[in-house]
Amino acid sequence: MANINLKDAKRAKNDEFYTMYPDIEKEIAAYVEYNSDVFKDKTILLPCDDPEWSNFTKFFAQNFERLGLKKLISTSYAVDSKTYKYGYQVTMFEEGAPQYDKSKTKTNGKIFTLTHDKFGDGKINIEDLEWSYLEGDGDFKSDEVTKLRDEADIIITNPPFSLFREFLIWIIESGNQFVIIGNKSCITYKEVFPLFKENKMWSGRTEWSGGMWFETKNLDDVDKIINGINMKNVPAIWLTNIDHGRRHKPLPLMTMADNLKFSKHKEINGKKSYDNYDNYNAIEVPFTDAIPCDYYGVIGVPISFLEKYNPDQFEIIGSDYNIKEGQLPELVNPEWIGKIDRGYVGGERLYTRILIKHNKATK
Ligand SMILES: C[S@@+](CC[C@H](N)C(=O)[O-])C[C@H]1O[C@@H](n2cnc3c(N)ncnc32)[C@H](O)[C@@H]1O
Repeated sequence: MANINLKDAKRAKNDEFYTMYPDIEKEIAAYVEYNSDVFKDKTILLPCDDPEWSNFTKFFAQNFERLGLKKLISTSYAVDSKTYKYGYQVTMFEEGAPQYDKSKTKTNGKIFTLTHDKFGDGKINIEDLEWSYLEGDGDFKSDEVTKLRDEADIIITNPPFSLFREFLIWIIESGNQFVIIGNKSCITYKEVFPLFKENKMWSGRTEWSGGMWFETKNLDDVDKIINGINMKNVPAIWLTNIDHGRRHKPLPLMTMADNLKFSKHKEINGKKSYDNYDNYNAIEVPFTDAIPCDYYGVIGVPISFLEKYNPDQFEIIGSDYNIKEGQLPELVNPEWIGKIDRGYVGGERLYTRILIKHNKATK
């Protein structure tokens, strides 16, 4: 029992983060800047949301006309199904509505939809949202939310991190476009990295450094309070399969000789050459900005490279996980007699590396 509670507590800690409006605004602006029609006539589903106070619902409802949306659907997860109970109280908005049902308020999820100017004031906005209770608790895996997924063109949300793998699989199997938030560590999941490698998913526009600030309802887990709002910093990143301009911006890089002479990194500057791995045939480049522009063999880079990955400039060959799994035998040094699970330099085991090559087209 104690174990279950601990597990639940950890899940809850990871699941109840609420995304800030300016973060959504900045990320979505990048897609619109790249393609002004990206959301035009599209049905957007915001699952795993809490539409009554969600900034996702607020942002897309307020920008419904500007983005040219066809329909906005937002669903929430029932209070009784959440792992973290934070002193829930029914809102005046819900209680005052004719469809309010005391027997459903805690056990059922809710669905909010926006399609037209309900109030006839000449514009479609947040006031025109209509809502009802879902049949079930709003679990994204339920048949009713899956049906909404299949009706939608684009899925956008910050899903529960504890269910990230399941959520991603649920999205990918729909074939929809998506913009979601995940913990940076998800990149190393075996379900996630292949999507990057095959250019089926990439980093969103927002920079990775500094993490993201979320509103937290968990009073035991607050990093700072801003304007009375409890905030938590999380190493979270945006992930998407919708194109944006930063993805096509080439990384400015120096030649190998210039890096060895002028690099700002003491690990590179002043060396005679870049290190080769002991166990496989690639050079070790510990910083993305130290990738030589004139080396056309395989290059091992940190995971943070994926933030800057431009598919016009590089191709991803795999990761050291693929080497360990025997999927890249051509790279393994036949003389190496130690473990091959990670890159080794001078016998020292390095953190996980991604293996890349300059894209032939840019040579
Ligand atoms: C990280 S929070 C983000 C909420 C909102 N999307 C936002 O960014 O402001 C994830 C939400 O998913 C809910 N949730 C947890 N498990 C769920 C499930 N199986 N199906 C749907 N939602 C779930 C959590 O209760 C929480 O409200």
